[in-house]
Amino acid sequence: MTNEFTSFDREMIMQRVQMAMSEKRFLHVLGVEKTAIELAKRFGGHIEQAALAGLTHDYAKERPDEEFELVIYRDGYDLNLLKYGNAIWHGLIGADFVERELKITDQAVLQAVRLHTTGAAQMTLLDKILYVADYIEPGRDFPGVEEARKLAEVDLDAAVAFETKHTLAHLLENEQLIYPKTLETYNQWVVKPKQFKA
Ligand SMILES: [Fe+2]
Ligand SMILES: [Fe+2]
Repeated sequence: MTNEFTSFDREMIMQRVQMAMSEKRFLHVLGVEKTAIELAKRFGGHIEQAALAGLTHDYAKERPDEEFELVIYRDGYDLNLLKYGNAIWHGLIGADFVERELKITDQAVLQAVRLHTTGAAQMTLLDKILYVADYIEPGRDFPGVEEARKLAEVDLDAAVAFETKHTLAHLLENEQLIYPKTLETYNQWVVKPKQFKA
């Protein structure tokens, strides 16, 4: 699955992505692509897959809610998903748009796009690369981003943990709905293994 990657037409994909979003978001996407390539080089990931995941991850971010709702009904998604908004839909369901419209067939890339906002208990190297690149790309500016960047220099798993913890804290702080997968990510990557007494 992962090894079936064939090179992609970057110009064509880039144009389609650019047409689907604001200039500001497109600059974010290019920042994520660049950062994902750097992380792939640093941690031994597949560079083209990282680039393609970065380039396509927010492809569906500016679609109207109605389009996502239609797909949730039509394609048999769990109807609980209707409670969640664009923040969850644009990755989880956005990957379907990437597959259908941009003709991306690499399942590893599609999975990374699907998981990029929530993470997951089980994440591949590519999943982690996209998840972290989206958080630390050069255009990001929020308290803690420098610490996240420093962690990502040396330890990708530590960067995943940092991002997950801070994302969850932000959701709690703002009393926002928490998608269960985000909790699974937290339980797996942030919670320290329990110390059992002998
Ligand atoms: Fe996103
Ligand atoms: Fe993004």
